[in-house]
Amino acid sequence: MPMDVPPNIHHVGEVTSTMDAARQMLTAANGVPFAVLAESQVRGRGTGERVWISPKGNMYFTLCIPEKSVTPEITPVLPLLTGLVCRAAIMSVIKGAVLHLKWPNDIIYAGKKIGGSLVESEGESLIIGIGMNVELAPPVTDSGRASTTVNEIAAALGQPKVTPAQLAELVWKHFFQMISDTALTRKILVSRFDAAMDKSLSLHRRTPTGRDPEELRALRLNEWGHLIVSRPDGTEETLMAEYLF
Ligand code: BTN
Repeated sequence: MPMDVPPNIHHVGEVTSTMDAARQMLTAANGVPFAVLAESQVRGRGTGERVWISPKGNMYFTLCIPEKSVTPEITPVLPLLTGLVCRAAIMSVIKGAVLHLKWPNDIIYAGKKIGGSLVESEGESLIIGIGMNVELAPPVTDSGRASTTVNEIAAALGQPKVTPAQLAELVWKHFFQMISDTALTRKILVSRFDAAMDKSLSLHRRTPTGRDPEELRALRLNEWGHLIVSRPDGTEETLMAEYLF
């Protein structure tokens, strides 16, 4: 995959979810990378079957690429790569902003969530959904983390507002730059994510009914991109595929 793939982004109005819209466009795309950017979603979804509240003003973006565009060693850590891409995109447009990541798929600023990603697959394609609060921080409904927006950060740092379309193009650019970097191994990617993690966050496992009361702290990632956490009693545990509050 060349480094500079020109943006092929379909701008649409209201959709159920950009994940569904992207799936419908897959056959016509015929293996050519594309993305869908929607104004709003009526059934936006987050990880773990959660609702992703999707009013007009934020970025609802789904990127579709053939799975062969990503090396097999990177594919299992694609959520981590997506987080690094989103962080780089925002930091490239808001000078001086320092964003962090929360394993496995959240973008964080000053301890608050600003966006997240959802990686799915269909046939031989990867479908990568990204939701980013650009203008509005929807209320936190289910004991999730407090949220903030890209434009709150821009305002705090005295910089111009960013639009969802501008951010989507930056995400596209950084995504293709990262997946076409032939020097990028899983080990390097994992260590970059580890360095960008906000390890001060208090973490809780998600349970079917809410959140587990036990407070966990992120310590480090192992070479597979699994998260090692510490429990209140000082013991450690490795989390492989859990979502955390
Ligand atoms: C998360 O739970 O943090 C992941 C949220 C992913 C939301 C995005 S918005 C664009 C795409 N369409 C969806 O329905 N979900 C993803």
